[in-house]
Amino acid sequence: MKEYLNYYEGRKVLVTGGAGAVGSILVRKLLELKAQVIVLDDLSSGYTWNLPQNEQGLLFVQGDVVDEVDLKRVFNEEPQIIFHLAAFFANQNSVDYPEKDLNINGLGTLKLLQYGVMYGKLERLVYASSGCSIYPSDAPMPFKEDLGASMYMGTPYQITKMLGELYMNYFYKMKGLPISKARFFNSYGAGEVPGQYRNVIPNFIYWAMQGQSLPITGTGEETRDFTYVGDIVDGLLRMGYMKEAIGEAFNLAAGKEIKIIDLANKVNKFAGSDKEIRYLPRRKWDTKTRLLASNEKARKVLGFDPIQDFDYGLKETIQWFDTNWDNIKDCAKFGPGISSAVRPVAKENNKESLAKC
Ligand SMILES: NC(=O)c1ccc[n+]([C@@H]2O[C@H](COP(=O)([O-])OP(=O)(O)OC[C@H]3O[C@@H](n4cnc5c(N)ncnc54)[C@H](O)[C@@H]3O)[C@@H](O)[C@H]2O)c1
Repeated sequence: MKEYLNYYEGRKVLVTGGAGAVGSILVRKLLELKAQVIVLDDLSSGYTWNLPQNEQGLLFVQGDVVDEVDLKRVFNEEPQIIFHLAAFFANQNSVDYPEKDLNINGLGTLKLLQYGVMYGKLERLVYASSGCSIYPSDAPMPFKEDLGASMYMGTPYQITKMLGELYMNYFYKMKGLPISKARFFNSYGAGEVPGQYRNVIPNFIYWAMQGQSLPITGTGEETRDFTYVGDIVDGLLRMGYMKEAIGEAFNLAAGKEIKIIDLANKVNKFAGSDKEIRYLPRRKWDTKTRLLASNEKARKVLGFDPIQDFDYGLKETIQWFDTNWDNIKDCAKFGPGISSAVRPVAKENNKESLAKC
């Protein structure tokens, strides 16, 4: 087995947001590597059914990264490595609820870093940043890590993901914390439950599996650098171990551009739907019509090697939907946005699914 994988055996690893899309896959992998895993998650967009059940080596703490009692609770477990994935996700959600976004992505990240300094024994803190947020719309592609950031960001989420990186830099340079910044680009794969504020792939699959037509917000010629969650997790594990990662940012991306129309056609084909595709106006904040990252630095420094073929990855994701359909159906949230923020959000589900979600 590779050295960076061996490293996790017996180590105490805190995963904030560990019940979420990327977190749940990371947690599974860490348990497979025999790490002692502590998950801190408030279950706002994560699900306990998405985590391994009754697994030795997993401590699940339902709590909030902004709450000092919850932070004390998990730091008392003496983690050696932290993967900070908890976040208010993502662009449209932050447009609808900008204060929540700042509280969790900004203050939550700051508090975690402060606790990291007070605790004094952290070997590594890996931060889940967002390449789609950091790089300006008009930056030359493929995006490289040393490109400057935009001063005019499209959403509060983009601002707070950048803020998270700035806090990481500050705590690295001024407080000596061994941080590392992972920039993701449209993760997809098992583990992501569809919903109003979720990514396009789980939502397309969810609709196609129910025989609904797929809505494209734009022309369909837009591109994204879709990256399989297993590849992202492999990159994170490398960043949690390698000394060369300290103080650095890495694009954990497949490095391939895929058109949304091609994605929609593939999802329809693999899910067995023959419904037509609908076109809606592009969302105002969605100014990044093409996204392609360079993974050259991650390849060179970390040995990162994203291997998942896109068609195969999509089929695997559909397989995960099939296996978990009842839970997914109960937990997928497609509620209204800010227009109804003043009203309590009605949960349409029964008691059992409320407990699940
Ligand atoms: N998925 C992507 O395509 C993508 C792209 C770029 C960056 N990222 C970043 O990667 C990370 C993981 O993304 P994801 O897709 O797994 O998101 P996710 O929403 O599935 O997971 C986030 C988890 O954090 C938890 N959480 C939210 N607020 C919390 C709080 N206050 N305290 C504790 N837990 C809290 C949620 O319940 C959820 O389980 C996030 O930081 C996200 O910003 C994701």
